[in-house]
Amino acid sequence: MDAFKINGGKKLSGTVQVKGAKNAILPLMAAALLTDEPVVLHNISYLSDVVVLSELLASMGASVTHASDTLVIQANALTGTTAAYEYVSKMRAAFWVLGPLLGRFGQASVSLPGGCAIGARPVDLYIKALQEMGAETHIENGYVHATGPLHAAEIFFPKISVGATHNTIMAAVLTPGTTIIHNPALEPEAIDLINLLRKMGANIQGVGTKTLTITGVSKLHGAVHTVIPDRIETATFAVAAAVTKGKIFIQGGDINLMESVADLLRLSNVILRQTERGLEVNAEHAVLKSTPIETAEYPGFPTDDQSLMTTLLSLADGRALVTEHIFENRFMHVPELIRMGAHIQIVNNQSVLITGVPELSGAIVTSSDLRGGVGLVLAALAAKGESIVQRIYHIDRGYDHLETKLSSLGADIKRIKL
Ligand code: EPZ
Repeated sequence: MDAFKINGGKKLSGTVQVKGAKNAILPLMAAALLTDEPVVLHNISYLSDVVVLSELLASMGASVTHASDTLVIQANALTGTTAAYEYVSKMRAAFWVLGPLLGRFGQASVSLPGGCAIGARPVDLYIKALQEMGAETHIENGYVHATGPLHAAEIFFPKISVGATHNTIMAAVLTPGTTIIHNPALEPEAIDLINLLRKMGANIQGVGTKTLTITGVSKLHGAVHTVIPDRIETATFAVAAAVTKGKIFIQGGDINLMESVADLLRLSNVILRQTERGLEVNAEHAVLKSTPIETAEYPGFPTDDQSLMTTLLSLADGRALVTEHIFENRFMHVPELIRMGAHIQIVNNQSVLITGVPELSGAIVTSSDLRGGVGLVLAALAAKGESIVQRIYHIDRGYDHLETKLSSLGADIKRIKL
């Protein structure tokens, strides 16, 4: 199994490039199932999650090709509408093919994703919305079997769900009549999906508001789209600069997608400057400050950045409570941070109280999920001495050669085999 060996304490400096957001690429790939024409996606990071979804689409007969940072998907000769367990069990977002398959072909069988390390993550909101649109659904042998035809409906999401929003929009764009979705996710990745669908000919109004109005069209066509930059990867490098007191330029980074994180960094005297090409982060005179954090749906503080900030707050001046409102088990990295010398009290499974320490020390630690694992890498970059971060296959799901990018900024990090 691969691991990262990191010798901490190096100030980061130089330029690093961020590519398209993983959490945008995945729904955009699913959207390609809605047309028989090619959908061309630029600014792709060929992450392990992208590979798994490509394999799933190919298993249903779609043609998926990639060259450099471009992915071309054409679903003109699908041989089936079943998404097998071997793919959906590896990656929850693979479940999102349900909406487009049902919307276009009137039937789909998609393996249930099951729970995952960060929480139970049910799919009840997805299913309820499709049922309200007329789908007949039943669960058998671990699969959701859904059949149409769908009709337009007015859907109220009692809770904001990124995935259920993606899935319902993709089901509605080819469904006759006008579907209204109340309380959709407003995450930039959901807006990026809508932007692609509109390029494909979808009629979606109310974008960026609490009510989406979708009038079904009879056919969608191909489109060419550049994926928005990864705001979580951008935040990762910005926090890496902050905890090492470095100065870096994040090419392709966009501060407008991560204002809530930027506000916290500014409190610590990190200077952020957006240019046309990317985001400059100057933390040479940073003084890390404690401040309470509560995760929330966009535009609140992203749950995906919580572990990055937990690391930063471990090294900050003062005490701060971090409260996780989106997932019930997203502090798995905390016991590992404590092993590196962080002073963190686990208040309950929703909150931790962090008292900053001047220094962390290197240790052998284990990642349990993607973002928690990256939080540990950031801690190791700042820590004194050597750390080994194990189980980095979690990290490879969302970061394209993280060690190469961090090395190019002067970090002492190597991928090793254990
Ligand atoms: C997306 O997951 C992201 N994944 C997650 O990023 C991100 O943390 C999350 O949104 C929240 O921003 C991708 O985009 C691939 P949700 P998703 O449905 O869509 C509950 C990462 O590290 N819920 O918005 O699965 C759910 O349990 C990943 O990149 C229901 O109760 O998240 C959670 O408490 C991790 N019933 C809350 O809603 C449902 O039917 C929000 O989840 C669906 C969700």
